[in-house]
Amino acid sequence: MEPLHIHLAFERYASAEELSPQIQLLLQSSIEAMHRAYAPYSNFHVGAAVLLEDGRTIQGNNQENAAYPSGLCAERVAIFAAGANFPGIVITAIAITASSATFTSGDPVTPCGSCRQSMLEYELKQNAPIAVYLLSPSGQVIRIPSVSQLLPLYFESKNLR
Ligand code: THU
Repeated sequence: MEPLHIHLAFERYASAEELSPQIQLLLQSSIEAMHRAYAPYSNFHVGAAVLLEDGRTIQGNNQENAAYPSGLCAERVAIFAAGANFPGIVITAIAITASSATFTSGDPVTPCGSCRQSMLEYELKQNAPIAVYLLSPSGQVIRIPSVSQLLPLYFESKNLR
């Protein structure tokens, strides 16, 4: 038996002001998107903003449904919109933020497993990392340099061949 380890390198910023103006705008865009979430069942509002290499920003937010599993997370709404409308343009970053109408938390929300898998698909397709910025309600920001870091031992298309 050989014990193996996976190392996750990420960064914490005490405030968004430590980041570039472009990323500060992206974080702000995720907050705007969060306020337009359709989350009448969970009252948990999530916003995501995808940054393309040409500077364009695509927003998404969670879209819930009375048939609960038919809803979709903010990250996938945003990344699928980017894939659908700008398929050849490299995605450089995604910002995510969340807040609940019923409780307060200082912790940033990290993407669910399905969203990690969906975002990874685009990262592998474009062969360039997508940085993930998680904005907490307290204003702290976590930066993970690539989606692959968030999904160790991931499943990918080459596993199908
Ligand atoms: N949700 C997201 O939009 N993104 C996440 O990363 C976690 C969960 C949504 C799905 C559902 O609408 C609500 O939050 C509660 O799970």
